[in-house]
Amino acid sequence: MSGFDTIVHLVYLACAVCFVIGLHQMNAPATARQGNRISAAGMAVAILTTAIVLGHNRSVSLGAVVALVIGAFAGGTAGLIAARRVKMTAMPQLVSLFNAVGGGAAALIALGDRAASTQAAVTGALDVAIGALTFTGSLVASGKLAGRIPGRPLTVPFGRQISAALAVLAIAFGAWFTAEPNRWLLTGVAVAALAAGVLLTLPIGGADMPVVISLLNACTGTAVAMAGFVLESTPLIIAGGLVGAAGAILTKLMADAMNRPIGAIVAGGYGTGDAVTVGAGTTSAPVREITADDAAIQLAYAGKVVIVPGYGLAAAQAQHEAVALAEALAERGVEVTYAIHPVAGRMPGHMNVLLAEANAPYPQLRDLEESNPEFARTDVVLVVGANDVTNPAARRPGNPVSGMPILDVDKARSVIVLKRSLGHGYAGIDNELYTDPRTAMLFADAKAGLASLLSGLHAYAR
Ligand code: TAP
Repeated sequence: MSGFDTIVHLVYLACAVCFVIGLHQMNAPATARQGNRISAAGMAVAILTTAIVLGHNRSVSLGAVVALVIGAFAGGTAGLIAARRVKMTAMPQLVSLFNAVGGGAAALIALGDRAASTQAAVTGALDVAIGALTFTGSLVASGKLAGRIPGRPLTVPFGRQISAALAVLAIAFGAWFTAEPNRWLLTGVAVAALAAGVLLTLPIGGADMPVVISLLNACTGTAVAMAGFVLESTPLIIAGGLVGAAGAILTKLMADAMNRPIGAIVAGGYGTGDAVTVGAGTTSAPVREITADDAAIQLAYAGKVVIVPGYGLAAAQAQHEAVALAEALAERGVEVTYAIHPVAGRMPGHMNVLLAEANAPYPQLRDLEESNPEFARTDVVLVVGANDVTNPAARRPGNPVSGMPILDVDKARSVIVLKRSLGHGYAGIDNELYTDPRTAMLFADAKAGLASLLSGLHAYAR
């Protein structure tokens, strides 16, 4: 190995160390930003080093250099603009789009010249199969999350049988390709996997989407690692392996949080029983309405208050108001905690990120397991823009949230639900909590509603 090669390998090793340290720091909200920067710096150095290696080896033509520069500039600019403009609530569909781009790029690498050789035949076929499936699957998932495709499970006649046939076809083309590498066979793998990606993702919907996103994320990482084998690129193998492993762990955690096996989610159509009510959110039973002033008095008199944030808090960007209210209550001697459901909001850790941004004290943030035993001794639960994660219908079979562990807010002495209407949550079903005699509805935008509660509390305290 030449001195140049040794230096290149050492630089790649340093980049891999950056990825691992960065990933580790993303464990906690306090260090997550720095972790992101360290990982991004590692990736920037890896890309620069690869460009230097290409120049040093003179292994690219002038045309390829021009294509690389234009591609990197166009892709980098599009990514930067998308990331800067995206609203926090639209983050999951952007992540899904990034998954699609990652999977598609990985598949294209193997479809290029290098995989049409016996050397990288197995990993090349796997790269194309996983990458192509991830590409279309992630596009469908992104469309569902953005509301461009209905979010509910969409079943295609004989969908499962067709998906199974496509999987058999992709495996057959892949096996043939490993024996006789030829670009047409690889194209056959790609076409079968592209179609399977659509058919497998369409029937998954409702509350199962978080699991699908993290699964597709794991697939992107795996496809990238396979592309690394095709290109014999160590940083690509390591980065892909890390994303694949992290995505797989997250998928398992999310599936456990939803209390359903990953296989059942991938099979699709989970919880499409006849109890599903998809519509505008018009529950027929009466609900009790409360004014902001009455709710503020109830909170002021409480000994223990639990705040349950949900997607509506993120949509209204009401995290600062929520924390200000919690602080005002704590100043009055009220014990305040936040109960955070693992799939509240639209992305893993969504509520933690928002509350950390508003400087909510970490010891006050409680997860599902810590919160549920607390509700029985809670005077008031204030549900802010959360819906599905509090729906007692989850305890019954036959609906989109069946089996999902919920925050047992209905065990508290009283519940105040702050949201704009009786509108549905992501799963598209009525929430039985709203008609519970212990529940009072405060109809308002989360930001404005919390501000009214705070001024009601201050007025009451005077
Ligand atoms: P949801 O069940 O989606 O309910 C959110 C509620 O917020 C809605 O009912 C809506 O009612 C209310 N809302 C919207 N804008 C509001 C505003 N400006 N002010 C006040 N309220 C507002 O939320 P959740 O309880 O957090 O549950 C999350 C759901 O998303 C779960 O089904 C989960 O499976 C799914 N999901 C989660 C993820 C991840 S990873 N977290 C990813 C994809 C899907 P109004 O219109 O009446 O105000």
